[in-house]
Formats: sequence, C-alpha cells, structure tokens
Amino acid sequence: MKRSVIDILDLTTAEIDALLSTAEDIMDHPKEYAERCHGKKLATLFFEPSTRTRLSFEAAMYELGGNVLGFSEPNSSSASKGESMADTARVLSCYADIMAIRHPMAGAPYVAAQNASVPVINAGDGGHCHPTQTLADLLTIKRKKGTLENLTVGLCGDLKYGRTVHSLIAALARYTGTKFVLISPVELSLPSYVKREILDGQGICYRQATSLEAVLPELDILYMTRIQRERFEKPEEYERLKDSYILTADKLTKARKDLIVMHPLPRVNEISVSVDKDPRACYFLQALCGKYMRMALILKLLETADKDVEPFAPSVIFDTMQCQNPTCITAKEQELSHAFYPVNEENGIYRCVYCEEKVIR
Ligand code: CP
Repeated sequence: MKRSVIDILDLTTAEIDALLSTAEDIMDHPKEYAERCHGKKLATLFFEPSTRTRLSFEAAMYELGGNVLGFSEPNSSSASKGESMADTARVLSCYADIMAIRHPMAGAPYVAAQNASVPVINAGDGGHCHPTQTLADLLTIKRKKGTLENLTVGLCGDLKYGRTVHSLIAALARYTGTKFVLISPVELSLPSYVKREILDGQGICYRQATSLEAVLPELDILYMTRIQRERFEKPEEYERLKDSYILTADKLTKARKDLIVMHPLPRVNEISVSVDKDPRACYFLQALCGKYMRMALILKLLETADKDVEPFAPSVIFDTMQCQNPTCITAKEQELSHAFYPVNEENGIYRCVYCEEKVIR
C-alpha cells in the first residue's frame, strides 16, 4: 500500500515540523510551487458536507498546478447504489494520483487506504479524527505564538464528537510542556481512547472543567468547537446542550492579552460575531493555513507515491468479536473484517482498528 495519512499520528513530529516549514515557504514563495503538481490529479471524495476542507484541498491542488476531480455529496456517486468504500478506492486509483476522503462513518478512509493504489488522506471521518485540520491548527499556533511548546490549551464545547479536538490533542501531546484544560458538559467529554491512551498513557498534564469563565484567564489558546448536531442520536439531547458555551467579547475581557481564540469552523453561535474584530480571533487565519498545509501534505505524499509502505500496525481478528459502535464503517459495510489492536492484552482490552471503540475479550 502507499503512504497515507489517516491519523495525525501517521506523521512523526519531525515530519509535521517539516510540513510546517514547507507551508511557510509556500506562503513566502508561491510562484516556486506553481507547477510542482503539473499533470497530477487529486480526487476529493466527500460523502459528508464541507466548505473549508474540500475547497482548500481543491485550491491547494490548483495552486500547485495540478487538477481536481471528485464529488461533494454521496448521492451523486455510486455509493448511493451500494458500492463499497473498498471498491470506490480501487476505482478512483485508476483516475487520480492522490485522494482526500471525508465520510460520516469512522474508519472509512482507513478502508480506502488499505485498498487504494495511491495515497489517501483522511479529510474527516465521523466523530473520529481530522488530521489535516490539525495541520492547519498547528500552523496557526506556530504563526501566532511562535512555538508549539509550553502552551496551556483550553478545548471547549463538544469534545466527544469533535473530531478536530481528538487529532489536535494527539499532535500537541507530543510537544514539550503542553497542558490541556478540557471544558465541556459531562455528556460531551473526551472519548476514553483519547483520555486514557493519549493523555494518561503519555503522562500529559490535563484537567477537566465545566465553566469556561473560570478557566479562561489561565489559557494561552482557547479552541472553541461546535456542538455537533449531526452526531447526536437524540435530537432533544442536542437541544438541551447546544448553547452550553457562547464566547462573547465581554467574556474575553477576562482573558490574557496574548490569548489566541481558535475554532475549526463552521460555527453556529458558540463564538459571537462581536469577537471577530478582536485581534485574538484566529479562526479565519486557520482556514487560510489549512490551504497551505494541505499543499505541503499533497507534495509530501506525491513525492513517495511510487514506493510501497508496510500495511498499518498489526491487528488481530477474533471470530467471535464485533465492533459495537453504530458509527463505525464496519456497521455499514458488513463484509469488512472486524479487526482490533491490543491496548492491554493482559486484561483483554483491544480497540477497533477502524474507529478505536474499546472491546474487552
Ligand atoms: N473545519 C472543517 O472541517 O470545515 P468543513 O466541514 O467546512 O470542511
């Protein structure tokens, strides 16, 4: 299989740092990159709505001199006739040199990467992860704070379904001195695989809070997120929680002068428009950084696209065990093998390779 980016941890810290440098070089010398992907094609396979990710991927490929093909909603593809993710990936490999996939089911880009003969980039899979948003976030932080180290990062809102948060925590946990403040209603707290395996597992300093106002003065970064209506099983639960956090210009008077306010966007009402004119608001810069980081990533993956890499980390298949997560790609595509990776074999704890749901054997 080809080198793909399905999870932010598929990139080493050195590779992320190199991507940041490339993106900044592209910003400074765009003409030098204008023909670097001449004759190459990017396929954007978006099974779920998107403004920033799809269009910044497309802008990125055009600005590198390449071309783009794809679809922006599943009903215009043969997925609506029941075509599997594996077959879609095999077919698109005949037409494109690299592909970016967004899908509502966790693990769909992983399935694509296992079956494609070109690099696959995860453009967001369900409530699971969103590695290229993290690349955008890291470039924004580097440009505004000058460093990725020794930062106190408040993550606020829907930490359960907010896939950008999961990927950002995994990335920032690798940088020295990062501290996290996890601000959410109890019902929307961070999934256990992020809390246990990334934060506890790596001894990262973090604490949980329910009041944004109480913790705001101590933050270097406030990363706001939308309550993800489309991921709720019960609409009444969304209605109850949707206004949990609303950042206003008035609340920001309690924050540091050098705070940066981030949001992956789209926003609903969790950041008042009155905040937009505050110089600490960085969310539109994030959208711009996304294009440059996606340019850098496309270049990197195309450089090695003629080489094969080892398949993903070893996994095991148990005849009797199935992932029970209804939003896992295995729930939709039932011919897929249910495969798991070990977390704590002694205690029989494994996680689904597609969605990271915990199973106990
Ligand atoms: N941040 C983000 O993923 O935005 P879109 O859903 O518009 O792509």
